[in-house]
Amino acid sequence: MGIRIQKTRESRLSSIDFDNLPFGKICSDHMFVMDYKNGQWEEGEIRPLTNFSIHPANLTLHYAQSIFEGMKASVMRDGTPLLFRLDKHVERMNASADRMCMPQVPGDIFCEAIETLVDLDRAWIPPQDGSALYIRPYMFATDEFIGVRPSETYKFVIFTCPVGPYYTAPVSLLAADKYVRAVTGGVGEAKTAGNYAASLYPAKMAKELGYDQVMWMDPFEFKYIQEVGTMNIFFVMDGKAYTPNLSGTILKGITRDSIIHILKDEGYEVIEAPLSKDQVLEAHKNGQLQEVFGTGTAAVVSYVNKIAFGETIIHLNPDNYKISPFLKSYIEGLRSGDRDDKFGWTQKVRSLELAHS
Ligand code: COI
Repeated sequence: MGIRIQKTRESRLSSIDFDNLPFGKICSDHMFVMDYKNGQWEEGEIRPLTNFSIHPANLTLHYAQSIFEGMKASVMRDGTPLLFRLDKHVERMNASADRMCMPQVPGDIFCEAIETLVDLDRAWIPPQDGSALYIRPYMFATDEFIGVRPSETYKFVIFTCPVGPYYTAPVSLLAADKYVRAVTGGVGEAKTAGNYAASLYPAKMAKELGYDQVMWMDPFEFKYIQEVGTMNIFFVMDGKAYTPNLSGTILKGITRDSIIHILKDEGYEVIEAPLSKDQVLEAHKNGQLQEVFGTGTAAVVSYVNKIAFGETIIHLNPDNYKISPFLKSYIEGLRSGDRDDKFGWTQKVRSLELAHS
């Protein structure tokens, strides 16, 4: 195939301080844009990153028919860009599209767009450990209509941001006891904009009480742990790893899945099952709660140092953690190419000449 490319005349690259990259504030030079009209995708194009003009009645602005993904490109020591589990991200985006009544993006077009964009902006991939080029594909409704129904037109866009770590310090969590994120049959599993909008108010409340994030609990008894605002969650108790099972109410984290595979491959027992706060509190009481960490594309592996379940507060010391630092360096080793990719999760980005020959 071959994607039409309109290159920027003036790269902003030289103005970027790669040693000081806040998450998600700086975008690279180009973006991919593809429109859906008359029941089909039109030809996509890569062009310089520019604003869209939006009609006041744009359907997404009113009813949030919008989905997204987050993935990362890294560089190997020799400068070759690597993508991590691209196929899984395409699969998850299309599952979100189904749930939100949006058209799927054909996998071959999706992958080619990502590869071409990353190749073109390869100089934007920060080489520093823990940094990466964050790739944000998203789709939104573009009908100019305020009746409530699925849009008939959409825009699929991909842009990228060089990023440093999402969390630069261990994270404290406040277990929800009033607000909920998802119920069975809802959209908790979809990576859709409204899930994140709905989390803002409880997250603000948690911040006011001195916590970094909300830990979502089941919506009926506030007893079973679901996930954290920006990541899935793991508990190491008595040498075993516990994480809430995929029940349709939590995000099917791709880093979560990778961590489970790595843990099992390293001989750890992994228990994916409903996990109650009582189990965690009991383990803490018995001295068996060893580590708590979150996993996500942005968060990678992020240590948790405090969890509040109502009045009961658990303090943890990430300096004593052993398994989560190993997992973090494992993922980073895969991203830099330093570690053998026995699972076949990474793929090298071909250069434009090869991809388009
Ligand atoms: C990601 O980890 O890629 C996410 O989408 C979380 C985010 C909201 C920053």
